[in-house]
Amino acid sequence: MSNPYQDGRGNKDRSITNPAGQGSEMPRSKSGKVTAAGDSTAFLIGEAMTGGYGKGPDILHACTIAVERGEIAVIVGPNGAGKSTAMKAVFGMLNVRSGRVLLDGEDITALTPQDRVVKGMGFVPQTSNIFTSMTVEENLEMGAFIRRDDFRDTMAQVYDLFPILKEKRNQAAGELSGGQRQQVAVGRALMTKPKVLMLDEPTAGVSPIVMDELFDRIIEVARTGIPILMVEQNARQALEIADKAYVLVQGRNAHTGTGKELLADPEVRRSFLGG
Ligand SMILES: Nc1ncnc2c1ncn2[C@@H]1O[C@H](COP(=O)(O)OP(=O)(O)OP(=O)(O)O)[C@@H](O)[C@H]1O
Ligand SMILES: [Mg+2]
Repeated sequence: MSNPYQDGRGNKDRSITNPAGQGSEMPRSKSGKVTAAGDSTAFLIGEAMTGGYGKGPDILHACTIAVERGEIAVIVGPNGAGKSTAMKAVFGMLNVRSGRVLLDGEDITALTPQDRVVKGMGFVPQTSNIFTSMTVEENLEMGAFIRRDDFRDTMAQVYDLFPILKEKRNQAAGELSGGQRQQVAVGRALMTKPKVLMLDEPTAGVSPIVMDELFDRIIEVARTGIPILMVEQNARQALEIADKAYVLVQGRNAHTGTGKELLADPEVRRSFLGG
């Protein structure tokens, strides 16, 4: 079967992802592998996070997820593994009992989600990620809520990235198809001009063709220099575009490596990729 991601286009092209002036490529550990404990050089890292909801039991157990500058990191794992919980913990929607969150080297563990947005985090949650009764354009305007400057250029960039949204700018977002709604959600997050983008299942409920298109757009966003940390249920396709990948099981890091390493790992293949 032909696979559009087989050429490993991901964002391995450093001339695109890491243009001069955007800082240099961060070093990896000697083995070239990224350890489960994470890499302190990561641009965004939720490190050894333990915690759950309210006074409930711990859902995350020393869980680490991270993304490096210029890269796409992917989190996969079975339903209920804690993928969304880990994302929420990184975004500050969960009080972690231990562990910490670092953004560009700064400890932001104590910050509210709002303050994390101000610091440069963009987050597209798995559910309720758009305002259905508002128009597409109003959704994008809402995304720009923290900005005091002129955001028209950013809106034009979002429309360039997702031309269908420009066409449907005056339509209620709730009337759009699943794939188009996800574009609205990603576009809304881009309106803050984030330094890093977190996406929780951006391709949920869309057809394979739409999934491929969304992945292409996500790769395009990464190439503009915005690192992407995303949860994906389409594990194989996600690993193919992942610079780094995490398999979470029951709130723990089960496997960590490059996308290619995990695709080649017999245990990962057997347990998560259907052989
Ligand atoms: N708001 C919540 N309050 C209490 N428990 C929750 C809440 N959200 C999730 N959980 C529990 O946390 C665990 C992990 O759920 P989570 O949504 O993080 O998994 P997931 O890996 O994202 O699953 P999926 O693939 O279905 O999206 C589950 O046992 C779930 O029941
Ligand atoms: Mg989830």
